[in-house]
Amino acid sequence: MYRWIVFLHVLGALGFLWHTALRRREKALDRIRAMLDLSNAALPIAYSSMALMLGAGIIAGIMGNWFSQGWIWAALVVIVVMWFGMHYYAYRYYTPIRKAVGLPYRDLGGDQPAQPPASDSEIAAVIQASNPLLLLGVSFGLVAVILWLMMFKPF
Ligand code: HEM
Repeated sequence: MYRWIVFLHVLGALGFLWHTALRRREKALDRIRAMLDLSNAALPIAYSSMALMLGAGIIAGIMGNWFSQGWIWAALVVIVVMWFGMHYYAYRYYTPIRKAVGLPYRDLGGDQPAQPPASDSEIAAVIQASNPLLLLGVSFGLVAVILWLMMFKPF
């Protein structure tokens, strides 16, 4: 039973990571739209995998009495930091791109309807401002830290 819970946990983690890898810098307008659409379509999968990963991780943590150790708390802290970091990054860099290419977008006021696309130079500028490689690098770095915590349980 316990191994199955850990199995579901790792499965959820994989689904979540797949979403993380969906980032790349594109230049052609229709390709940018397609990428952002795909990214949006992947969100429910990302959220449910994350819920599976977290739910099964917490159940396994209780079953295995792991909450008396530090690594599991550290993993929870890193995942929360990652969660807020990703949302901040999406809000800071992807919302302006969505808006500029004429897609519906979300800001602090909630869901917003599509607006006419901005000029090519404005679109180029908001894309240039983002750094998907940095996002990918930092996310994978944090995931590597979590994986290390899971597998080595150093404290
Ligand atoms: C991206 C995030 C995460 C990834 C990629 C991940 C990955 C893994 C992997 C591969 C294992 C199997 C380790 C092994 O059998 O040696 C594992 C086990 C486990 N994980 Fe995670 N995990 C993540 C986040 C979390 C979080 C946030 C928690 C906190 C609730 C958690 C709790 C656990 C527990 C309790 C186990 C079972 C440990 C054992 O039986 O040795 N994980 N995780």
